[in-house]
Formats: sequence, structure tokens, C-alpha cells
Amino acid sequence: MEQTYHIAHAQAVPACTVVIFGASGDLARRKLVPALYNLRACGKEMGSHDFAILGFARRQMAVDGFREQMRDAVARYSRLELDNNCWTDFAPRLDYLGGLDQPAGFERLRTRLEQLEATHGLPPNRIYYLSVPPEAINEAVARLEQAGLIAKPGAPHFSRVVVEKPIGHDLESARETNRAILGHFAESQIFRIDHYLGKETVQNLLVLRFANTIFERMWGARNVDHVQITVAESEGVGSRAMYYDPAGALRDMVQNHMLQLLALIAMEAPVSLDAEAIREAKLNLLRALRPVPSGKAATLVVRGRYGTGTTDGQQVPGYLEEQGIPRNSRTETFVALKAFIDNWRWAGVPFYLRTGKRIGARESLIHIQFKDVPRILFNSAGVLPANALTLRIQPDEGFSFGVLAKRPGLGVTISPARMNLRYQSEFEGPMPDAYERLLLDVMAGDHTLFVSAAFVEQSWAFVQSILEQWASDYSIPMNDYPAGSMGPSAADDLIKADGRMWLNGDLSRH
Ligand code: BG6
Repeated sequence: MEQTYHIAHAQAVPACTVVIFGASGDLARRKLVPALYNLRACGKEMGSHDFAILGFARRQMAVDGFREQMRDAVARYSRLELDNNCWTDFAPRLDYLGGLDQPAGFERLRTRLEQLEATHGLPPNRIYYLSVPPEAINEAVARLEQAGLIAKPGAPHFSRVVVEKPIGHDLESARETNRAILGHFAESQIFRIDHYLGKETVQNLLVLRFANTIFERMWGARNVDHVQITVAESEGVGSRAMYYDPAGALRDMVQNHMLQLLALIAMEAPVSLDAEAIREAKLNLLRALRPVPSGKAATLVVRGRYGTGTTDGQQVPGYLEEQGIPRNSRTETFVALKAFIDNWRWAGVPFYLRTGKRIGARESLIHIQFKDVPRILFNSAGVLPANALTLRIQPDEGFSFGVLAKRPGLGVTISPARMNLRYQSEFEGPMPDAYERLLLDVMAGDHTLFVSAAFVEQSWAFVQSILEQWASDYSIPMNDYPAGSMGPSAADDLIKADGRMWLNGDLSRH
């Protein structure tokens, strides 16, 4: 029988209503509603959860029209296939209200919520999911309070707010947004989402590090040569020009997802598995992350922008030709950087991070390269590759450990081999999408996989040191790379200058 050890059990999930602010947007369609559909899915996989969903957006739309749109969205983006019976159970729980941009809209929101709760026999537990641009957040939380829609913490029924990235545009605006939300909600009611934290493989980083003894003993400057974190996407900017062009890859991916990965892979062991303890450990790690010193952005950071090229066998336009992108845009779609963590564990170990759109392969991985084999015995010629642990975040989730082994035969011939764990073949059962888990955690009130205000600000402080140099030093180049490549050659030069190489693609096939 398969041996399992249950450490944390799924928590009780009270019945509630999820109000999606910005329900006509991309996120609601691609992620939120499909995730909520999967959570219910006739109770097939994740137990039976009792909730209603109220889409709230600016424009007016008939409820039937909204349901129709969401049905298409589920058919297209849901992890589980759309099932007619499940949809018949789900659809009546979907409601829609326009008028998000009008003060009276929030009065109507209250009335509609009360009606919806009465119809479905739900208690007034409310989750406000703010999938709106950062500049709309302040107003939304203020109006919620004016309309009497925020219950105090500790009240018999909860009011919670979920905030999507981007939280701010820079350090100052992030602070302001945090302050604005904290002006109306207590920290215990706020859930700042970073969907990378909901990914199975990201959660496994903690298990791998702290449920095994061997890795933790090797984790640090004594044994590790360097660490690489790559988040490569084959997609381009798509239909998100309005959001993406003012942001760029540094704000869109590095400030949040990549620094979260960095924190989880490099932090000290938390004192417990409590949300607070894990947040503290991650924050301490970020505090030790060396800001890019003034004048060093040109050598420690590479920015790039995709040009025309081929991905997945198709000719695709360059960034500047994409719909909605200004022809004179200076936005980066690729960032590579070299960072250092100034603490005892990691002193002197470089961390190379890179992320980009329209890269040849969609592949996110963390690669821990151990130190070279000593130049004695089998390695007197200094040619043997060092051990490496590669954690595949997506796709083909799993991890592999690169070792050297003797090939069978009379002579001594050594070959690299991989000890490989693939989630797909090792474990059975559903692999919930990140948003499914995170939405369920909000319903259960569990903060473990959510981001603290302090982490948001600390990560902006790091990114800010780069943004300021980019803004003031015009000599820092924007490196073009063809869509479908592995990024600009300047990114290769960044790591080659240290006598190292990026580990590119194809890992899952080893
Ligand atoms: C989002 C970014 O947060 O993450 C997108 O805004 C990016 O630009 C996406 O494509 C990547 O998420 P995933 O789960 O597909 O790796």
C-alpha cells in the first residue's frame, strides 16, 4: 500500500459568497471562475463546497449573458472538463452586477448580496476579490466600508479581501496601497495573492528542504556553487498590452513570483509551519538580498525585448508589433540578473534569475549547482560535471538529481545520470490548479500561502534599485532577441563571464 504522512489536513471551509471585482476581465475568465467551478465540480474531487459567486464590474450586463461567457471560459480554461450536470448545478450560483465605478453601485452590491445569500441559504461570509488595476483598489475598499460591507475581525461572519498583483507600481505606490487597504481591513482579513505559491511544486520546496535531511545539510555556500532560477514562457503579451506595457518583466515577474521562489529556496528553516513563521523566514531572506548598487545595473542586470520569430512552429510578431503596444515602447519582456544574499549561509554564492516572454520553451525551474568534483581520482583531468539538483516547477513537475555513474563494462567510463522524480508517474490523484487551492485557503482563512505587506514592500525595494537605474541611465541597452530563442545573448554573457552556463530546456526529457 502507498505510504503517506498527513501533516496538515484540509481545513473546514465555511459557506460564503465570493464577489469578483473586475469580473469581465481576463483573470476572472481564465483563472477565477474555472477554479471555482473545479472546486465545486459536483463535489467530485475536492469535497463539496457551498458558495455563490457575484461578478461585479463597471459595465452592465444581463446575468444570463455573464453565465454564458463564464460557461465558455470554463469549457476553455478549466482543469476538469465541462460537465453539463455540474454546470447546471453551478450556473445558478453565478450572478452579475454592473456599476462598480459608481458610488450607488456599492449600495446595490449590498442589496444584491443579501438577495443572493437568502436565495442560496448562505451566511453573510464575504470574500471581495479585487481583480482591478492598482489605482482602483483604494476607492474600492473605501466604498466597501462606506456601504457597511466590511464586518470587523472577530465578528460572527467574516469579510475578507483578496488583492491581486500588481500591488503598486513601485515602492512608494505599493506602500500607499498597503496603507489604504489596512485603513479598512485588518491584516487578518487581507489575502495578498501570488499564484506561484499555490503551485504544487512550489509548496513542495518546503517539504523537499525540511522533510529530508540530506539536502538541508548541503544547502549553502560550503557546497553550492550557484543557483539558477528560470521562469520561461512561450506566450507573448497577448491581449494584455494595457497592463503589461506600463509594467514590463521586472515588475510583472521578478518583483513577485521570482522573489518568492528565491525566498523559498534560500530562506532559513522557519520556527514552525505557521503562516507567521514562514512569512518571517521569507522576509528575513529578502532583507539579506543585496540591492543592485548604484551604477551596477548595467553589469548585474540584462533587459531584453522579443522581436519577430517562431514559437510552437508559428511565425509571431515582435513586441513592438503587438496589438496595443506603442511603437516607441521601452518596456522589457525579458530580465536576467545576478544577485547575492548577504547572510552566513549564502555568502558569495551567486543567484542567477531569468524570466522572459516568447522564449523557446515554457519551462520554470530552479537549478542548484553543487561545487566541482575535486581534481583528484576520477577527476584529475577536471572534466567531470558537478552534481546538480533541478526542481521543475512546470511543466512536467518534479525534480531530478544529477549524479555520475560508472557505465557497465570492463573499463572505467563515467556517465552523467539522473535520479528523476516525475509527479505524474509517481503520484496519483488530482493536482489542483494554484487558484483552486488559494481560493479554498481564503475561504478557510489560512494565510500560509499569502504574501505579507512587508514582503511586498521589501521586494519592491530590491526592484526599485534597478528601475531607478534604468530610468536614469540611457546607456543601459535594451537587447533584442528573436521570439522562440532563449533570450538575448547578453544574458548568456552575464553568466559566462563567471565561467558558468544557463541550463536550458530539455531537462524533463533526461
Ligand atoms: C502572471 C503574469 O502573474 O503570471 C503573467 O502577470 C504570466 O505575465 C503569468 O504569464 C505566469 O503564470 P503561470 O502560472 O502561467 O506560470
